Amino acid sequence: MKLYGELADWWPTFSTPQEYRKEAAFFARALTRSGDPPPRRVLELGSGGGNNAFHLKKKFAMTLVDLSPHMLAVSQALNPECEHQEGDIRTIRLGRTFDAVFVYDAICHMTNEADLRAVMRTAFEHLRPRGVALFVPDFVRETFVENTDHGGNDTTRGSVRFLQWTTDPDSRDTTYVVDFAILIRDAESQTRLVHDRHTYGLFPRATWRRLLREAGFELRSVQLPDGFGRDLFAGRRRR
Ligand SMILES: C[S@@+](CC[C@H](N)C(=O)[O-])C[C@H]1O[C@@H](n2cnc3c(N)ncnc32)[C@H](O)[C@@H]1O
Repeated sequence: MKLYGELADWWPTFSTPQEYRKEAAFFARALTRSGDPPPRRVLELGSGGGNNAFHLKKKFAMTLVDLSPHMLAVSQALNPECEHQEGDIRTIRLGRTFDAVFVYDAICHMTNEADLRAVMRTAFEHLRPRGVALFVPDFVRETFVENTDHGGNDTTRGSVRFLQWTTDPDSRDTTYVVDFAILIRDAESQTRLVHDRHTYGLFPRATWRRLLREAGFELRSVQLPDGFGRDLFAGRRRR
Protein backbone atom coordinates (compact mmCIF):
# COMPACT_ATOMS: atom_id res chain seq x y z
CA MET A 1 0.00 0.00 0.00
CA LYS A 2 1.45 3.31 -1.15
CA LEU A 3 0.10 5.15 1.91
CA TYR A 4 2.40 3.17 4.22
CA GLY A 5 5.33 3.05 1.78
CA GLU A 6 6.22 5.68 -0.79
CA LEU A 7 3.68 8.15 0.72
CA ALA A 8 4.49 7.50 4.39
CA ASP A 9 6.37 10.81 4.69
CA TRP A 10 3.05 12.48 3.95
CA TRP A 11 1.21 10.62 6.75
CA PRO A 12 1.44 13.57 9.21
CA THR A 13 -0.24 15.75 6.55
CA PHE A 14 -2.75 13.05 5.59
CA SER A 15 -3.75 12.49 9.21
CA THR A 16 -2.77 14.47 12.32
CA PRO A 17 -2.62 13.42 16.01
CA GLN A 18 -5.32 16.02 16.78
CA GLU A 19 -7.78 14.05 14.66
CA TYR A 20 -7.23 11.04 16.94
CA ARG A 21 -7.69 12.88 20.25
CA LYS A 22 -11.31 11.88 20.96
CA GLU A 23 -11.00 8.26 19.93
CA ALA A 24 -7.71 7.84 21.79
CA ALA A 25 -9.40 9.18 24.95
CA PHE A 26 -12.12 6.58 24.42
CA PHE A 27 -9.57 3.77 23.95
CA ALA A 28 -7.68 4.89 27.07
CA ARG A 29 -10.91 4.62 29.08
CA ALA A 30 -11.72 1.25 27.54
CA LEU A 31 -8.23 -0.08 28.33
CA THR A 32 -8.34 1.27 31.88
CA ARG A 33 -11.85 -0.09 32.49
CA SER A 34 -11.13 -3.56 31.13
CA GLY A 35 -7.87 -4.11 33.03
CA ASP A 36 -7.72 -5.52 36.53
CA PRO A 37 -5.68 -3.74 37.80
CA PRO A 38 -5.67 -0.98 35.13
CA PRO A 39 -2.81 -1.52 32.67
CA ARG A 40 0.48 0.29 32.71
CA ARG A 41 2.49 -1.38 29.93
CA VAL A 42 0.57 -1.48 26.63
CA LEU A 43 1.59 -3.10 23.35
CA GLU A 44 -0.01 -1.57 20.24
CA LEU A 45 -0.02 -3.85 17.19
CA GLY A 46 -0.08 -2.00 13.84
CA SER A 47 0.61 1.41 15.38
CA GLY A 48 1.25 3.14 12.02
CA GLY A 49 2.28 6.78 12.24
CA GLY A 50 1.70 6.74 16.00
CA ASN A 51 -1.23 9.16 16.11
CA ASN A 52 -3.10 7.10 18.69
CA ALA A 53 0.06 6.42 20.64
CA PHE A 54 0.70 10.16 20.80
CA HIS A 55 -2.28 10.38 23.18
CA LEU A 56 -2.12 6.93 24.80
CA LYS A 57 1.51 7.43 25.88
CA LYS A 58 0.31 10.06 28.38
CA LYS A 59 -1.40 7.25 30.33
CA PHE A 60 0.53 4.11 29.42
CA ALA A 61 4.08 3.00 28.62
CA MET A 62 3.63 2.17 24.94
CA THR A 63 5.52 -0.38 22.82
CA LEU A 64 4.66 0.07 19.15
CA VAL A 65 4.85 -2.55 16.39
CA ASP A 66 4.37 -2.00 12.66
CA LEU A 67 5.37 -3.75 9.46
CA SER A 68 6.32 -0.57 7.63
CA PRO A 69 9.73 0.92 8.50
CA HIS A 70 8.52 4.18 6.91
CA MET A 71 5.50 4.43 9.21
CA LEU A 72 7.67 3.48 12.19
CA ALA A 73 10.04 6.34 11.31
CA VAL A 74 7.10 8.77 11.27
CA SER A 75 5.94 7.46 14.64
CA GLN A 76 9.47 7.55 16.07
CA ALA A 77 9.68 11.27 15.23
CA LEU A 78 6.31 11.92 16.91
CA ASN A 79 6.81 9.56 19.85
CA PRO A 80 10.56 9.37 20.59
CA GLU A 81 9.86 8.20 24.14
CA CYS A 82 8.05 5.04 22.95
CA GLU A 83 9.71 1.76 22.07
CA HIS A 84 9.32 0.88 18.37
CA GLN A 85 9.61 -2.60 16.88
CA GLU A 86 9.40 -3.56 13.22
CA GLY A 87 7.47 -6.74 12.53
CA ASP A 88 4.41 -8.51 11.18
CA ILE A 89 1.67 -8.51 13.79
CA ARG A 90 0.64 -12.03 12.68
CA THR A 91 3.97 -13.53 13.62
CA ILE A 92 6.07 -11.17 15.77
CA ARG A 93 7.18 -12.50 19.16
CA LEU A 94 8.95 -10.02 21.44
CA GLY A 95 9.59 -12.62 24.15
CA ARG A 96 7.93 -10.62 26.94
CA THR A 97 4.48 -9.76 28.16
CA PHE A 98 2.40 -6.62 28.69
CA ASP A 99 -0.59 -5.60 30.82
CA ALA A 100 -2.70 -4.93 27.73
CA VAL A 101 -2.56 -5.24 23.94
CA PHE A 102 -4.36 -2.75 21.72
CA VAL A 103 -5.14 -3.32 18.03
CA TYR A 104 -7.00 -0.61 16.19
CA ASP A 105 -7.34 0.04 12.45
CA ALA A 106 -4.42 -2.20 11.45
CA ILE A 107 -6.68 -5.18 12.20
CA CYS A 108 -8.67 -4.20 9.08
CA HIS A 109 -5.73 -5.45 7.03
CA MET A 110 -6.51 -9.02 8.07
CA THR A 111 -8.68 -10.26 5.22
CA ASN A 112 -9.16 -13.91 6.15
CA GLU A 113 -9.82 -15.88 9.34
CA ALA A 114 -6.33 -17.38 9.45
CA ASP A 115 -4.69 -13.92 9.53
CA LEU A 116 -7.19 -12.56 12.06
CA ARG A 117 -6.63 -15.58 14.30
CA ALA A 118 -2.86 -15.15 13.95
CA VAL A 119 -3.02 -11.53 15.24
CA MET A 120 -5.24 -12.65 18.14
CA ARG A 121 -2.67 -15.30 18.97
CA THR A 122 0.13 -12.67 18.86
CA ALA A 123 -1.89 -10.57 21.30
CA PHE A 124 -2.47 -13.58 23.57
CA GLU A 125 1.22 -14.53 23.62
CA HIS A 126 2.17 -10.99 24.70
CA LEU A 127 -0.26 -10.73 27.62
CA ARG A 128 0.50 -11.41 31.25
CA PRO A 129 -2.05 -13.60 33.06
CA ARG A 130 -5.32 -11.57 33.47
CA GLY A 131 -4.08 -9.08 30.85
CA VAL A 132 -6.63 -7.84 28.32
CA ALA A 133 -6.48 -7.43 24.55
CA LEU A 134 -8.69 -4.84 22.88
CA PHE A 135 -9.50 -5.07 19.15
CA VAL A 136 -11.35 -2.28 17.35
CA PRO A 137 -12.18 -2.99 13.69
CA ASP A 138 -13.63 -0.19 11.56
CA PHE A 139 -16.61 -2.40 10.72
CA VAL A 140 -18.06 -5.80 11.44
CA ARG A 141 -20.28 -7.41 8.80
CA GLU A 142 -23.42 -6.25 10.68
CA THR A 143 -22.37 -2.56 10.77
CA PHE A 144 -20.80 -2.22 7.32
CA VAL A 145 -22.13 0.57 5.09
CA GLU A 146 -20.70 1.72 1.80
CA ASN A 147 -19.66 5.36 2.14
CA THR A 148 -17.55 8.22 0.88
CA ASP A 149 -15.43 10.40 3.13
CA HIS A 150 -12.77 13.02 2.68
CA GLY A 151 -10.02 14.72 4.63
CA GLY A 152 -6.56 16.19 4.58
CA ASN A 153 -4.45 18.90 6.15
CA ASP A 154 -1.99 21.70 5.47
CA THR A 155 1.45 21.43 7.09
CA THR A 156 4.83 23.04 6.52
CA ARG A 157 5.70 20.16 4.18
CA GLY A 158 2.70 20.86 1.92
CA SER A 159 -0.96 19.93 1.63
CA VAL A 160 -2.93 16.72 1.23
CA ARG A 161 -6.57 16.29 0.31
CA PHE A 162 -8.07 12.86 -0.08
CA LEU A 163 -11.27 11.13 -1.03
CA GLN A 164 -11.93 7.77 0.64
CA TRP A 165 -14.45 5.55 -1.17
CA THR A 166 -15.54 2.46 0.73
CA THR A 167 -17.37 -0.28 -1.18
CA ASP A 168 -18.11 -3.98 -0.92
CA PRO A 169 -17.93 -5.48 -4.42
CA ASP A 170 -18.85 -8.98 -3.15
CA SER A 171 -20.95 -9.17 0.02
CA ARG A 172 -20.43 -12.96 0.20
CA ASP A 173 -16.70 -12.79 0.93
CA THR A 174 -14.74 -11.55 3.98
CA THR A 175 -13.38 -8.38 2.38
CA TYR A 176 -14.31 -4.88 1.30
CA VAL A 177 -12.38 -2.27 -0.62
CA VAL A 178 -11.28 1.26 0.18
CA ASP A 179 -10.08 3.36 -2.75
CA PHE A 180 -8.14 6.48 -1.83
CA ALA A 181 -7.75 9.34 -4.32
CA ILE A 182 -4.94 11.38 -2.77
CA LEU A 183 -3.97 14.86 -3.98
CA ILE A 184 -0.56 15.99 -2.76
CA ARG A 185 0.71 19.54 -3.15
CA ASP A 186 4.34 20.02 -2.15
CA ALA A 187 6.03 23.18 -0.84
CA GLU A 188 6.85 24.21 -4.46
CA SER A 189 3.13 24.06 -5.32
CA GLN A 190 3.58 20.97 -7.50
CA THR A 191 0.42 18.86 -7.28
CA ARG A 192 0.07 15.16 -8.04
CA LEU A 193 -2.74 12.63 -7.75
CA VAL A 194 -2.21 9.11 -6.40
CA HIS A 195 -4.71 6.25 -6.35
CA ASP A 196 -4.20 3.71 -3.55
CA ARG A 197 -6.48 0.67 -3.15
CA HIS A 198 -6.71 -1.12 0.20
CA THR A 199 -8.50 -4.42 0.73
CA TYR A 200 -9.82 -4.81 4.29
CA GLY A 201 -11.30 -7.73 6.22
CA LEU A 202 -14.97 -7.93 7.21
CA PHE A 203 -16.26 -10.55 9.64
CA PRO A 204 -19.52 -11.09 11.52
CA ARG A 205 -19.50 -10.55 15.30
CA ALA A 206 -19.97 -14.28 15.82
CA THR A 207 -16.74 -14.97 13.91
CA TRP A 208 -14.84 -12.43 16.02
CA ARG A 209 -16.07 -14.07 19.22
CA ARG A 210 -15.35 -17.61 18.01
CA LEU A 211 -11.81 -16.74 16.89
CA LEU A 212 -11.08 -14.96 20.19
CA ARG A 213 -12.18 -18.06 22.12
CA GLU A 214 -10.13 -20.30 19.81
CA ALA A 215 -7.09 -18.08 20.45
CA GLY A 216 -7.50 -18.81 24.18
CA PHE A 217 -9.29 -15.63 25.32
CA GLU A 218 -12.08 -15.28 27.82
CA LEU A 219 -14.50 -12.74 26.29
CA ARG A 220 -14.98 -9.50 28.22
CA SER A 221 -17.60 -6.85 27.64
CA VAL A 222 -16.45 -3.24 27.89
CA GLN A 223 -19.32 -1.00 28.96
CA LEU A 224 -18.72 2.70 28.45
CA PRO A 225 -21.46 5.34 28.52
CA ASP A 226 -20.09 7.24 25.49
CA GLY A 227 -20.01 4.68 22.67
CA PHE A 228 -17.50 5.46 19.94
CA GLY A 229 -19.79 3.88 17.38
CA ARG A 230 -17.52 0.87 16.85
CA ASP A 231 -17.65 -2.70 18.07
CA LEU A 232 -14.99 -3.33 20.70
CA PHE A 233 -13.78 -6.89 21.16
CA ALA A 234 -12.02 -7.51 24.45
CA GLY A 235 -10.48 -10.77 25.55
CA ARG A 236 -8.72 -11.65 28.79
CA ARG A 237 -5.89 -14.12 29.15
CA ARG A 238 -6.84 -16.38 32.04
CA ARG A 239 -3.33 -17.63 32.84
C1 LIG B 1 -4.09 3.07 9.20
S1 LIG B 1 -2.46 2.68 9.66
C2 LIG B 1 -2.51 2.84 11.42
C3 LIG B 1 -2.57 4.25 11.87
C4 LIG B 1 -2.51 4.36 13.38
N1 LIG B 1 -3.78 3.96 13.99
C5 LIG B 1 -2.09 5.71 13.89
O1 LIG B 1 -2.58 6.06 14.97
O2 LIG B 1 -1.29 6.40 13.27
C6 LIG B 1 -2.41 0.94 9.48
C7 LIG B 1 -1.04 0.36 9.76
O3 LIG B 1 -1.14 -1.07 9.78
C8 LIG B 1 0.11 -1.55 9.39
N2 LIG B 1 -0.01 -2.97 9.03
C9 LIG B 1 -0.77 -3.54 8.08
N3 LIG B 1 -0.57 -4.88 8.06
C10 LIG B 1 0.35 -5.15 9.03
C11 LIG B 1 0.95 -6.35 9.50
N4 LIG B 1 0.65 -7.54 8.97
N5 LIG B 1 1.86 -6.24 10.51
C12 LIG B 1 2.17 -5.04 11.06
N6 LIG B 1 1.61 -3.88 10.66
C13 LIG B 1 0.71 -3.93 9.66
C14 LIG B 1 0.51 -0.67 8.22
O4 LIG B 1 1.91 -0.71 7.97
C15 LIG B 1 0.00 0.69 8.71
O5 LIG B 1 1.05 1.43 9.30
